[in-house]
Amino acid sequence: MKFAGAHILSVDQFERADIEQIFSVADIMEPYALRRKVTRVLEGAILGNMFFEPSTRTRVSFGCAFNLLGGEVRETTGFKSSAITKGESLYDTARVLSGYSDIICMRHPESGSVAEFAGASRVPVINGGDGANEHPSQALLDLYTIRKEVRDKGRSLDGLRIAMIGDLKYGRTVHSLIRLLSLFKDLQVILVSPDALQMPEEHVEHLRQAGHQVLVSSDLTNSIGHVDIVYSTRIQEERFESSDEADLYRGRFRLNQAIYTQYCEPNTVIMHPLPRDSRAEANELDSDLNQNPNLAIFRQTDNGLLVRMALFALILDVVDQVELSSRPVNWYRQRE
Ligand code: ASP
Ligand code: CP
Repeated sequence: MKFAGAHILSVDQFERADIEQIFSVADIMEPYALRRKVTRVLEGAILGNMFFEPSTRTRVSFGCAFNLLGGEVRETTGFKSSAITKGESLYDTARVLSGYSDIICMRHPESGSVAEFAGASRVPVINGGDGANEHPSQALLDLYTIRKEVRDKGRSLDGLRIAMIGDLKYGRTVHSLIRLLSLFKDLQVILVSPDALQMPEEHVEHLRQAGHQVLVSSDLTNSIGHVDIVYSTRIQEERFESSDEADLYRGRFRLNQAIYTQYCEPNTVIMHPLPRDSRAEANELDSDLNQNPNLAIFRQTDNGLLVRMALFALILDVVDQVELSSRPVNWYRQRE
């Protein structure tokens, strides 16, 4: 695909070569994300960060990624602080905000809303999550992480064995990830959820049509024994009619160190898009896994910065200039 000026709305717009391109630009971004070097390629550019649903990492990492490339960020968080509460349409909002920004990231509770907004925007729009539909930048950072993690263990994306666990009906991260994964070869995918929260049939069918093996299960321990990746997810309580309904499913599939040791192969990588719900009644990924070297959840969040920097550099067409305008940092760095 042509990245310059493109909206990023769905993973369906990518082919395998596009993903490789994003990942090779993400690799270039590492010294900047780690604050070894500074680049100002987006100096003068403004990111409009419009988040109409709660977010910690997507909102902040998109903002940091833009700052790390030299650009400025303006934010709206929640409907209450937006004129949408006065009845303004998405069309008008998009026409206005795209006059103030060079690129916009948006999260919204309705499926399809970000695409509708992009249709009226005068600048590129990135989908930061639209209802239960998609979360494309999350899927890219997940895939980037999976590739790195399994490569260190001598495996590749082709032939990958993965178990996706939890709320597969409403989880937009797994919807995007499963479609992205379908571009690779010979996958074995185990979909573990309560019966009422199964992966939508269209995604399962898409995977099968692409020649992959798919198994549907509602049993955690029988499903995690022979996989490279265990990808756990949170019950998406904000998509249920009531908290009581979400309570029916919270805590159904809990992974902790004892279960991991008993049932998983020793190298199995543990992932989660986060936030993990750490309340006692849920606790899908126990904190006793925190010292497990195969827990990749914070490597996922770090990789999010690289992948989001790569998207900005590609869409605003500055990849070739990043290294030209680079210099070492001049302050004390605690990280590494
Ligand atoms: N943060 C992810 C999302 O917004 C996953 C989650 O919230 O459970 O889709
Ligand atoms: N993974 C993710 O989208 O996190 P936030 O909801 O905190 O942005």
